[in-house]
Amino acid sequence: MTTLPDEVLQGHLRHYADFAEADRTRILAAIIKNYGRSVDHSDLDRSTQWHTAIQNLSTNPLTAELVESTARLLSNRAAGPPSKFRARSLLTDIGAAVQQVPVSAEQQLGLALDLHKQGLAPVLTYAFNRWIIPAVEPQAVGRRLAELTVMGLYRLAEADAAATDATLLTSGSAADVIRTGSRVGKHPRNYAAREVLLPLEFANYQALAQTRLHDRIPANADFEPTTKTLHHDYVPGSDGESILRSGFLPNPRQRTDLEYLHSALLRDLPEHRLPLDLHPGNFVWNAAEDRWVLVDIGPIPVIGSEEYFVEDFSAYYTHTWLNRLTREHAEPIRSIDYSVGRM
Ligand SMILES: Nc1ncnc2c1ncn2[C@@H]1O[C@H](COP(=O)(O)OP(=O)(O)OP(=O)(O)O)[C@@H](O)[C@H]1O
Ligand SMILES: [Mg+2]
Repeated sequence: MTTLPDEVLQGHLRHYADFAEADRTRILAAIIKNYGRSVDHSDLDRSTQWHTAIQNLSTNPLTAELVESTARLLSNRAAGPPSKFRARSLLTDIGAAVQQVPVSAEQQLGLALDLHKQGLAPVLTYAFNRWIIPAVEPQAVGRRLAELTVMGLYRLAEADAAATDATLLTSGSAADVIRTGSRVGKHPRNYAAREVLLPLEFANYQALAQTRLHDRIPANADFEPTTKTLHHDYVPGSDGESILRSGFLPNPRQRTDLEYLHSALLRDLPEHRLPLDLHPGNFVWNAAEDRWVLVDIGPIPVIGSEEYFVEDFSAYYTHTWLNRLTREHAEPIRSIDYSVGRM
């Protein structure tokens, strides 16, 4: 329902060919950089080769020639016929291809390069510090990887600079969040936000407004189809992240309410198939009403969603809330490193 149908997902993958060359180049560069993260430091020759290549990408202008030749060199992709991807069962073909190829940075990068060369979005099989090639049917693997590309890597496509407005609440990696009086607008800054994340966030509103969670999300959401901007009512209060950053832990009332909300989410989300990003920054404590409101119900890819949602409340609370700041400090990049070129 509020997940992307296969045909839509495949359409986004094929849209890759229509991106400007500079966008495709940055996406491939990000893929190289992230596969580099999988190479173990103790493996000296390999790790030196990857390190030098990635260093070279970051100190030179990111041209298509440079990035493609780097991918070719690292993946040893000079010889051999490329994998073939049929248009009709693209997700299955992608899933089957990543499962057939050995689980190594070189080999998986080779596959990404093949996709890129064929005008199809490359997929990344190393994220969240691990290989993500689950032993499930190829179609399901292809789906998850495609979702990670269109929700994640597509942030590097058709990207605008962040706004620098006084009314800006935040500028995340996908959208500018701007408050105007009692309304908040979420303005997309790249292809992923515009075509995938914000439309799905609005679909999530429509689904959750029908559940018991209707008063735990901002009221009066609407979606402007031409600008792809999402609006909802402003919720007065501090978000969980700012509370933690200012050195406070949730008070007993806040902890109890969070536990209540967590169990309501556990009960209502699965039937709506919505993996949400449940980090503390996405909850605002509405002091007047004495409860948390989930202000960001944008979707996240299934891959990595277990990072953000643990079924056992006390494990979730410890991992996602109490340990948030130390974990962030120990490991600033957990999911995917998007910092390439002019990002
Ligand atoms: N309706 C609202 N009322 C009050 N504050 C809000 C509201 N919407 C957003 N915010 C504030 O703005 C911040 C960013 O909004 P939101 O989480 O929707 O953006 P985002 O780009 O998805 O952020 P991220 O990717 O970091 O989760 C929130 O963490 C919250 O502090
Ligand atoms: Mg958020």
